[in-house]
Amino acid sequence: MASKKQALLKAARQARKKAYAPYSNFRVGAAVLGGNGKIYSGCNVENASYGLTSCAERNAIFSMIAAGEKKIHEVLVIGPGAKFIPPCGACRQVIAEFAAPEVVVHMCNSTGKCRQTTVNELVPFIFHLIK
Ligand code: THU
Repeated sequence: MASKKQALLKAARQARKKAYAPYSNFRVGAAVLGGNGKIYSGCNVENASYGLTSCAERNAIFSMIAAGEKKIHEVLVIGPGAKFIPPCGACRQVIAEFAAPEVVVHMCNSTGKCRQTTVNELVPFIFHLIK
């Protein structure tokens, strides 16, 4: 499948505008391309009880699941500042639940410049429940 990077970037930027991050002031947007060709986006949602915070990546993925799609074909995450935002450990595990090891993950800074990696690079030796 052809890369949908520009469309993912646009969707993640839009979602990032909606971030609820009054505690960290660190606004994140994410978008995933589903196996059905559709894009699902999410933003981080913080809480006064800090541990309840939900990351942008997981919110995008859960929205994809709620829509009935279970395969991720591409991921993009965008945050503030000059650094490329790498998904946190919890989000990596959730990405890997629905994405093949070779799936591309774009980690972008606020200007839209991105560093490209793969699920396998982010999570080698991923845990899967194989009985
Ligand atoms: N955050 C994300 O949304 N995604 C990540 O992968 C890393 C962290 C959010 C959570 C919290 O609202 C803020 O960034 C600071 O940690």
